[in-house]
This record gives sequence, structure tokens and C-alpha cells, in this order.
Amino acid sequence: MINEKVQNVLNSQINKEFYSAYLYLAMSAFFDEIGLYGFSNWTKVQAREEVDHGMILFDYIIERDGTVNLEQINSPDREFHNPLQVFEKILEHEKFVTESINCVASMSEDECDLATRHFINWYISEQVEEEANARDVITKLKMFGDDKASLYHLDQDLGKREYKAHTYK
Ligand code: FEO
Repeated sequence: MINEKVQNVLNSQINKEFYSAYLYLAMSAFFDEIGLYGFSNWTKVQAREEVDHGMILFDYIIERDGTVNLEQINSPDREFHNPLQVFEKILEHEKFVTESINCVASMSEDECDLATRHFINWYISEQVEEEANARDVITKLKMFGDDKASLYHLDQDLGKREYKAHTYK
């Protein structure tokens, strides 16, 4: 049986992962609207990965004989203006998720739940990668400035991202 405090933070993390999927989908729709189909693809693939993140937590709670509580998912932010501003939002959001994951790690340590402490390491590594991915696109967008040809090539690159199901085991 899983510790109740740990179960609560894991359930709250499921909600944050599904909210992340909503947020990335809203961004994908924005990029479609402005004709940046590669950016749209990249954010749509990310949305699917976020669903995977939520489902891995879901399965873990069940495996530990716990109770899954699915909370209401808020409407995502829709204040999008341009690619750089959207990717800055992505980085800000991923930093928030990283802090939340760190809190799960810290709670599982406080409650001596070493199985969860071990499990959450996968998410800690994933967050390092997600922040780095967002930072990489921000760096390029800042370097390109108003150069439309470079933006076009970056859009082509981001269009190549393919979804690969994320699994924990
Ligand atoms: Fe699942 Fe982007 O954090």
C-alpha cells in the first residue's frame, strides 16, 4: 500500500502532466493557425509524450495498490504571440514541472517511500531533457531574429520530430 501523502502528490502530478498535454495542444493549434506546421508537429508530439507521463504515474499508483484520483484539468493558457514567446512559455512551464517533480522526490524521501523515490528518478532525467530542448529552440530563435529563411528551416527541422511512446520499464 502506498503512503497517502506520496499518493496525493503523485495524483497531483498526473493532473499537471495532463494539463501539460492540453497546453502543448493549444500551442500546436496556434502554430497551425500561423502556418508553422513543423512547430505545430513538435508541440503535438510533446503533448502525446505528456499523456504518456501521466499514464506512467497512473499505472504506478495502481501497481502500488493505491487509488488514482483524477482531478479537473484547467483550460490551458492561450496567450500566444510568436514562436519565441511560446518557447519561453514552454521553458517556464517545464521549470514549474521540474519543481513539482522535485517535490515528489522530496516527499517520498521524507516518508521513507524508497520505491517512489527510485521511480521518480526517470522523471527527474526527463525534465533535464525537456528544459534543454526548449532552451535549444529559444537559443536558435534569438539567433535568427527576423530572418524568415532561418525560421523556415527550423520549422522544417521541428517537423521531423516523431512520436515514440514513452515507457518507464
Ligand atoms: Fe511531463 Fe513536460 O513534463
